[in-house]
Amino acid sequence: MEFVNIALAKGRLAEKTIKMMNNQGITFPDYHTNSRKLIFENDFEKIRIIFVKPSDVAIYVEKGAADLGVLGKDILMESEADLYEVMDLGFGSCKFAVAALRDYVDLPGKKIRVASKFPNVSKKYFNELGRPIEVIKLNGSVELAPIIGLADVIVDIVETGKTLEENGLVVINEICKVSARLVANKVSFKTKMNHITRIIEGLKRGAE
Ligand code: PRP
Repeated sequence: MEFVNIALAKGRLAEKTIKMMNNQGITFPDYHTNSRKLIFENDFEKIRIIFVKPSDVAIYVEKGAADLGVLGKDILMESEADLYEVMDLGFGSCKFAVAALRDYVDLPGKKIRVASKFPNVSKKYFNELGRPIEVIKLNGSVELAPIIGLADVIVDIVETGKTLEENGLVVINEICKVSARLVANKVSFKTKMNHITRIIEGLKRGAE
């Protein structure tokens, strides 16, 4: 039997996924949370996990270097990768939202300056509303942009709401809910169907 390679977004999502597999007796003998190693195997189940940057999970899976992947729906939406989204893993819940300073006034028809780590998600959302925007791509600390005058609004993920609150911003629109997703390469999904189905069933039971 061939190995199934699973790309995991380094950090909390990876740890949760491994825990779900452990709950089903699938362990990775030399894995521990502080290890700097990037690849681990379970020889009996023929499962190999690889640790990649969250924003790289989709490309590993789309190109078939990984058969499966676990990543946040936010990063999945932004990637626009051609793959199957096979399961909502139910953890890592937060939401995509548009936020602005408390006194922000939206003038209909005016081009909105949107700062975000998610330019594709931002464009798609405002396009569907028929609102013209200018997207300013940032890599972090997005909440600063409206305060400093770089943008009118931000599109970002909100988990506890603490970052918005401490920076005087409020949610003006919710875009959608976000959580961890299991994704599959379209070819692997057919060629390794039995093995992949067993892994999915295991993750479902491991989540219970
Ligand atoms: C994320 C996100 C928000 C914050 C939301 O940023 O972009 O800034 O977390 O969480 P909260 O609602 O619980 O406050 P991250 O911590 O990844 O830092 P970054 O801004 O440097 O990307």
